[in-house]
Amino acid sequence: MHTPKYLIAFLLVLIHISSCKKTKTTPNNTTGTTTSKTDNEIIAAMLNLPETPYNYSVLSLPGYFGAPPIASTDNTPVNTNPITNDGATLGRVLFYDKSLSLNNTIACASCHKQENSFSDPLQFSKGFLNGNTDRNSMSLANARYYTNGRFFWDERAITLEDQTLMPIQHPVEMGMTLDSLEAKLNTKDYYKVLFRKAFGEEKVTRDRISKALAQFIRSMVSYQSKYDDGLVSLGHPPAPNEDLPGFSQLENQGLRAFNANCAGPCHNTELQTMPVARNNGLDLVYTDNGVGKITGRPTDNGKFKSPSLRNVMLTAPYMHDGRFLTIEQVIEHYSSGIKNHPNLDNRLKDPVTGQARPLNLTQQQKNAIVAFLNTLTDNKFISDMKYSNPFK
Ligand code: HEC
Repeated sequence: MHTPKYLIAFLLVLIHISSCKKTKTTPNNTTGTTTSKTDNEIIAAMLNLPETPYNYSVLSLPGYFGAPPIASTDNTPVNTNPITNDGATLGRVLFYDKSLSLNNTIACASCHKQENSFSDPLQFSKGFLNGNTDRNSMSLANARYYTNGRFFWDERAITLEDQTLMPIQHPVEMGMTLDSLEAKLNTKDYYKVLFRKAFGEEKVTRDRISKALAQFIRSMVSYQSKYDDGLVSLGHPPAPNEDLPGFSQLENQGLRAFNANCAGPCHNTELQTMPVARNNGLDLVYTDNGVGKITGRPTDNGKFKSPSLRNVMLTAPYMHDGRFLTIEQVIEHYSSGIKNHPNLDNRLKDPVTGQARPLNLTQQQKNAIVAFLNTLTDNKFISDMKYSNPFK
């Protein structure tokens, strides 16, 4: 189900040709007293970046990424902000740059760590003055695949381009104004080079910052887990009782238990994404009403977005408030802890009584689900240099 090899080779050649054209060949100035620095020297003084940018724009994804269940959830605005290799490279530098915070102490990556699939192992993250965020940091893996394109637990950001400027201005997270951010970044040589490569002009603007960060985040696609290996070697969508090649018996039991209890209309597609925010019965009365706090509608109280479950074993603690320290606690919630909130999602309710319907899983089913969730860990994703800190 991989893209045919000749097509990949052809695309690589195309990328190579187009990136060669963009490379500015500034001759070394050997005469005179002032030596102007080349782009590469300016970059190399601060950053470890390859001369030809990493490939972010054309990934050789398994075939099912191109099929409607996943493809239709892609929120990339292809006309206004397609992913380019130079754009995502700039996004990567911005993502790891502590100068995006008022006192140069916090970068996006401080709360979105690659080894945790771009989440944070703390229940609440620490902002630039050491204050706590209100919620648990979210994994960014496959954030691109969410149909309504909204971001944050409460979906308050309408697009990723809107979202990326919010942490920068947040009083706890990074504490900057966009005016001072533009002024600050405009003084840095390396941004002159990187903005020119990405947008054809060296000027730093908020619009370009937001677009480049969004490109980098959308390029964070996790597609090389054990589960993907199984799907690729099977070569077709597994039938309900079909085993995945390479899976242990327990993992295959877990796949079935997950599909029967957790996927369906909830954590669905091969990326285990949820189509809309839902109430999963965490509380009878919520201190944080999630989507309801944004829309003001009581029927939205206690509804939260769920990020893709890819790499979920790396993203503890869990839920919007990080209340569950382990995946076992999460599974126990669905097995026995669901609360009968008026907005509790129908799938977690008994259709006859309308009451909360805990899944009542056996210990064996719970173990199997954990084994399955472990197959969603993508070690290549969390160690890929192209998502790592570029600063020297
Ligand atoms: C101080 C910690 C912190 C910093 C710094 C931070 N974030 Fe976050 N991030 C969070 C938390 C906490 C949430 C969840 C907040 C919420 O939903 O209210 C979040 C959520 C997100 C989401 C939503 C994901 C989704 O699936 O809806 C994105 C995207 C994101 N952050 C990107 C960024 C970017 C880009 C930066 C840098 C400009 C950044 N973050 C800086 C803590 C942080």
